[in-house]
Amino acid sequence: MCENFNKDLRGTVYVMKTLHSRSGQMPWIPRKLTMASPLRILGISGSLRKLSYNSAALRAAQELQPNDMSIESFDLTEIPLYSEDVRTHGYPPPVQAFRDKIASADGLLIVTPEYNYSFPGVLKNAIDWASRPPNQPFDGKPIAMMGASLGTFGTARAQYHLRQCFVSVNAFVLNKPEVMIAQAGDKFDEQGKLTDRMAREQIQRLLIALADWTRRLQTR
Ligand SMILES: Cc1cc2nc3c(=O)[nH]c(=O)nc-3n(C[C@H](O)[C@H](O)[C@H](O)COP(=O)(O)O)c2cc1C
Repeated sequence: MCENFNKDLRGTVYVMKTLHSRSGQMPWIPRKLTMASPLRILGISGSLRKLSYNSAALRAAQELQPNDMSIESFDLTEIPLYSEDVRTHGYPPPVQAFRDKIASADGLLIVTPEYNYSFPGVLKNAIDWASRPPNQPFDGKPIAMMGASLGTFGTARAQYHLRQCFVSVNAFVLNKPEVMIAQAGDKFDEQGKLTDRMAREQIQRLLIALADWTRRLQTR
C-alpha cells in the first residue's frame, strides 16, 4: 500500500491510499488526515491607517486561513522610532512584545503597502527593532508576504525591497506565489472586505504554500 497527499484550496489534507492486491490496484480511497497542532502565524500590516487596504487584506487572510493555520495580527502603532540609545537601556514594552510574538510564531505573514517604490518606514522601523540582539527572532523564520496598492504594480517594488531586508536577518521568505493586489480601490468594498475573487484565491494559495513551507522548514 502506498500513500499520496493532496490538499484542497482550504488546506485540508487528504491521504490517497492505493491498495495493491494480487489482481492489481484497488481504486484510491480518500480519507481526511487529522493534523497536529495548527501553525501559529503572526500577521503584520505595514500600514497604520484605519481604513488600510493592507490591514483589510490581512483580515481577508485570517478569514481564508487553512484549517491547519491560525493567524494572529500584531499592530505596529505603539512601536517607537528606533534609537540605539534607548535599546541599550532595554527594549520598550511594545518592542519586547513584538519580538516575543515573532519568536513564538511558527511563521510570519507580512502585508505591505508601497511607499515611493519601497515599503513604509513604519515597517522598516519595526523590523530594525526586532533585528537587534540577543536572539534576533527572524533567524530561520519562514515568511510569506503580500501587499495592496492603489497603483498598477500592486506593491511589487515594495516587496522586492522587503525581501532584501530579510536576507540580512537570515529569514526564509517564500518565493511564490506572489500576491500583489493592484488598484486596490476597486477590490475592497466600503466595509474593507476584499471582494475580488482572484485576489482571494491568490491569498488562499499563498497561505497553503506558507503552511507547506513552514512545515518543511520545521523538519530540517
Ligand atoms: C508616502 C506615500 C507614498 C506612496 N507611494 C506609492 C508607490 O510608490 N506606489 C504605489 O502604488 N502607491 C503608492 N502610494 C499610494 C498607496 O498605494 C496608497 O496610499 C495605499 O492605500 C496605502 O496602503 P494602505 O491602504 O494599506 O494604507 C503611496 C502613498 C503614500 C502615503
